[in-house]
Amino acid sequence: MSRNLAAAVGGAAGAVALVGIVILLIWFCLFHKSSVSRNSETGSSEPSQVGRHGGIELTVRDARRFEIEELFHATKNFSDKNLIGEGKFGEVYRGLLHDGMLVAIKKRHGFPSQEFVDEVHFLSSFQHRNLVTLLGYCQENNLQFLIYEYVPNGSVSSHLYGAAQQSRDKLEFKHRLSIALGAAKGLAHLHSLSPRLVHKDFKTANVLVDENFIPKVADAGLRNILGRVEIAGPSSQAAADEIFLAPVYISLDLVREFRTYSEKSDVYSFGVFLLELLSGREATESPSSDSNQNLVEWVQSKQDPGIMSGIVDERMGSNYTAEAMEEFMSLIVPCIDSSSERRPAMSYVMMEIDRIREKERNLTTVMGERTPIVTLGSQLFEAKKE
Ligand SMILES: *[C@@H]1O[C@H](CO)[C@@H](O)[C@H](O)[C@H]1NC(C)=O
Ligand SMILES: *[C@@H]1O[C@H](CO)[C@@H](O)[C@H](O)[C@H]1NC(C)=O
Ligand SMILES: *[C@@H]1O[C@H](CO)[C@@H](O)[C@H](O)[C@H]1NC(C)=O
Ligand SMILES: *[C@@H]1O[C@H](CO)[C@@H](O)[C@H](O)[C@H]1NC(C)=O
Repeated sequence: MSRNLAAAVGGAAGAVALVGIVILLIWFCLFHKSSVSRNSETGSSEPSQVGRHGGIELTVRDARRFEIEELFHATKNFSDKNLIGEGKFGEVYRGLLHDGMLVAIKKRHGFPSQEFVDEVHFLSSFQHRNLVTLLGYCQENNLQFLIYEYVPNGSVSSHLYGAAQQSRDKLEFKHRLSIALGAAKGLAHLHSLSPRLVHKDFKTANVLVDENFIPKVADAGLRNILGRVEIAGPSSQAAADEIFLAPVYISLDLVREFRTYSEKSDVYSFGVFLLELLSGREATESPSSDSNQNLVEWVQSKQDPGIMSGIVDERMGSNYTAEAMEEFMSLIVPCIDSSSERRPAMSYVMMEIDRIREKERNLTTVMGERTPIVTLGSQLFEAKKE
């Protein structure tokens, strides 16, 4: 009798356990399915936030994973016609996506890696009017691609001393101040992120302009993707890039040399950019034939903004006020100070450029009327309302 009861109880318990397991299995399947579909919604099967950037909030947009076929189609099989440049990451192609969007595609050889995907997700998580947006990536056939928004009117360096320098009407002081301000806003935005992002490769060639001449800073944080195995470019290019890098510090034991990147090294690079904007020349050039210093060393040794008037780009004519120009020069000097502590923060540099630009506008505009006025250091000219 009691044995029968025990068997009945045992059987019931077994049935309950079985039902429990089945419920668990169904529940697990449903949960698993929903998490998979959540990932594929973003067009990517990789988890969207992992690793050291795990703490940041990802809300609006996420990197898109492109198919290699789509990139072949967009660039007409990476035809030479669409090759628009070559950078540290590799060749850069212009591409037209199915939806009619123009993009810039960077291509290099590389094995697929999760680290690459993580960095791309981080770098594409923020957007700003003065930053070139990273749209997505692709890793297939041992190739790695980065897909950026396309900025049509080239780099500021090409307008200052490169192929596009015939567009002279855009080189007036007020335009240069606008370009400086936009670039400063882009860089200051990177420094204000949490976690903050150091650009690490800021240079005049990385400030692009769109069709309305709005500057957009390119390649923010790209150095993080390049990693330690950085391939040195052609030596003349390397030398031209080197000038934007803050001085190298040698550690006390003199065993190893290391380059430290920080917000303040970005400020140094930004100061060199301002110097190129002011002079219309590459900072590697000498200010005069009887000097063997380059522009940066020359300014560092003089420390006197007054003397800098000799390097002001002649193409600006006298269409600027001496007051605003002098303040602009005074701002460059501390930015390229060899001591990082003495360099100002990017947010301060940005506010100063904004103030100088407003001052220049005030001084060249009288009560909003189109009145010819004379200002110190510049000849008679028509003041134009912007
Ligand atoms: C690209 O290559 C594929 C196969 O190699 C070929 O079928 C296609 O016609 C090519 N497209 C263009 C635009 O050259
Ligand atoms: C931008 O480039 C296009 C094509 O080269 C040119 O027609 C246009 O005038 C340029 N815009 C500016 C503001 O320079
Ligand atoms: C100076 O400004 C005037 C009026 O805006 C313009 O006509 C002239 O071309 C400018 N000169 C230079 C050198 O930019
Ligand atoms: C420019 O003019 C406005 C109005 O007169 C004034 O409020 C402002 O402080 C001026 N800005 C600078 C930088 O001089």
